[in-house]
Amino acid sequence: MDRFFHPTFGQQVIHSISHLIHNFCLLPLVFFQDDWNIYSFHINSTVSSRYATTVITSRVANRMAESKEVEFHVRIPKNAFITKFRMFIDGQVYDGNVKEKEQAQRQYTTAVSRGQSAGIVSSVGRTLEEFKTSVTVSAHNKVTFELTYEELMKRTLGKYELQIHARPMQPVKDFKIDVHVQEKAGISFLDVKGGLSTNALANAITQTQADEQAWVHFYPTEDQQKACDSCDEQGLNGDLVIVYDVNRNSTLGDIMVSKGYFVHHFAPANLSRIPKNVVFITDRSDSMYGSKIEQTRTALIHILGDLAEDDYFGLITFDDKIFHWKQELVQANSANLDSAKNFAREISDRGGFDIDRAVLEGSNMLNAHLREGSASLLILLTDGDPTLGETNVERIHSNVRQAIAGKFPLYCLGFGFDVNFEFLEKMALQNNGVARRIYEESDAAIQLKGFYEEVATPLLTDVTMSYKGGSNLTQTVFSQYYNGSEIVVAGQIDDNNIDSFIPQAVRTERKTFSETNSPVETSETVSDNQTQRVWAYLTVKQLLQKELLMSGSEKEEVKKNILELSLKYSFVTPHTSMVVTKPPGETADVLDKPKEGNQETHNAYFYFFIIKENVINTNH
Ligand SMILES: *[C@@H]1O[C@H](CO)[C@@H](O)[C@H](O)[C@H]1NC(C)=O
Ligand SMILES: *[C@@H]1O[C@H](CO)[C@@H](O)[C@H](O)[C@H]1NC(C)=O
Ligand SMILES: *[C@@H]1O[C@H](CO)[C@@H](O)[C@H](O)[C@H]1NC(C)=O
Repeated sequence: MDRFFHPTFGQQVIHSISHLIHNFCLLPLVFFQDDWNIYSFHINSTVSSRYATTVITSRVANRMAESKEVEFHVRIPKNAFITKFRMFIDGQVYDGNVKEKEQAQRQYTTAVSRGQSAGIVSSVGRTLEEFKTSVTVSAHNKVTFELTYEELMKRTLGKYELQIHARPMQPVKDFKIDVHVQEKAGISFLDVKGGLSTNALANAITQTQADEQAWVHFYPTEDQQKACDSCDEQGLNGDLVIVYDVNRNSTLGDIMVSKGYFVHHFAPANLSRIPKNVVFITDRSDSMYGSKIEQTRTALIHILGDLAEDDYFGLITFDDKIFHWKQELVQANSANLDSAKNFAREISDRGGFDIDRAVLEGSNMLNAHLREGSASLLILLTDGDPTLGETNVERIHSNVRQAIAGKFPLYCLGFGFDVNFEFLEKMALQNNGVARRIYEESDAAIQLKGFYEEVATPLLTDVTMSYKGGSNLTQTVFSQYYNGSEIVVAGQIDDNNIDSFIPQAVRTERKTFSETNSPVETSETVSDNQTQRVWAYLTVKQLLQKELLMSGSEKEEVKKNILELSLKYSFVTPHTSMVVTKPPGETADVLDKPKEGNQETHNAYFYFFIIKENVINTNH
């Protein structure tokens, strides 16, 4: 069966065309930007103990002798939660309110049905989300927009990356990005990267570093704002990425405590790698035709080249049938690797496809080869929904869970946007793994390799973090810990009593990380409630994943918890919205967090891809 003729395809194209038209309709805002002048644009980011709070402030003047609609349009990291939005007009402050999404939507719908314009577009990119609002400013008047968002830095491949996106849509006289990093453990290195960190702008960047603190300032002139690689007459358009890591002196890591809450960062250094058993399951159904299958081949060959001699591996490709390169896992010696690479080179697209059997076969192979002192992992790469064999997603989930039985993690890589990402994400989360989207662009092979590198070096398996005297903990059991990553646990300290609080990290009863002299740091430098906010942030993130795995009344309960925390800490999450209050007579805007994998929110670029693919497939 050819998946490209499934009945919903026509709908996607219609979406795409209306979406394109919609996008073009937004263009006049760009053409008319002379009407208003952004005279100041500041981004101020403070990272304290790996929690970043960023404030974007844009000051705009209406140059015209009549009222004008002035727009505020920014991109923020997907991982972040917006926590605050304000506008200042005529000495008046208009504070946004975080409300339950449904309630906010109701208000919003009323406004729309009164015939007033909608005005919110949010979309999902690889790492950024868009938020946008506008307000009417009277003749020769000014407005200040101020947006705050927060995110917990995630350590990947030995570093944290703070991504700051700047695209004010016009050159700005007073443009500044200020970043302040504070890390008690000490900063081991700090680099400035991203599209804005180019030669043309080099002298606009200053970087200062002390032991525990670092500052980055980016103050480009108006001319520089037009001159950089990704910039033009409309000014800056790109990222500044602050890359850094911290020192790791204590085996138990860093534990910050403040006001009855703690956050523990655990990333032991100097451990030796443990051998791994890995099975790669690759989709070769006809939808993988063209660059997807080519990039998959390239990535697989590279990944095979990175296996160590004491690793064992297996390869499975599948469409409607399952192909084993070898029936069992084999050692990653050079003869086997050469033969496997030849197999990988020959992988080409074929028929329909049976995810269920492929994953079960992979699990069986790993189950037949569990070695003491090694780490097993299963990696699935696919670009579509199951169409053959078992196609009921619930049954696939339960089959897979049974086959894996918590013994090793399953990582699911969803290639492109045709894939049912929620199905993959659920399957991965049910089996201690994660799902990742692979964007169908020229660097797809690099994305695949990048993901593999994150899990390439297991250092610990079955880690249990335990906190005597702590409660309301975030996740404490981790099936594997990889080099370059970090385990983060937050919780509350019973009776705010640090003396009876004893943290430990235990690995399968055999190895225990603990420290006799208390590694607990009471931090007063960290702003008042930050530790608590980190706890809330992590709790909400993990509840959102849990919600995906639940159904019925359990799901409702989790949703209720998410909502309570989001409202209490003012997080814009998938269950809340930011209602932007405006001067009398104007409609409130509702800012939502876009949903990963939601077809309608993707940008025009992606739709061009679908159309192109369809042409290829109808011709062959
Ligand atoms: C950035 O924000 C921090 C924390 O709110 C504040 O202390 C600092 O003065 C701000 N920096 C600038 C340049 O505005
Ligand atoms: C872990 O990664 C670091 C670089 O981030 C490297 O220096 C170290 O050798 C790696 N450890 C192992 C066991 O591979
Ligand atoms: C844990 O959370 C519950 C529910 O929010 C709360 O009643 C309890 O006091 C919390 N525990 C601690 C130690 O604060």
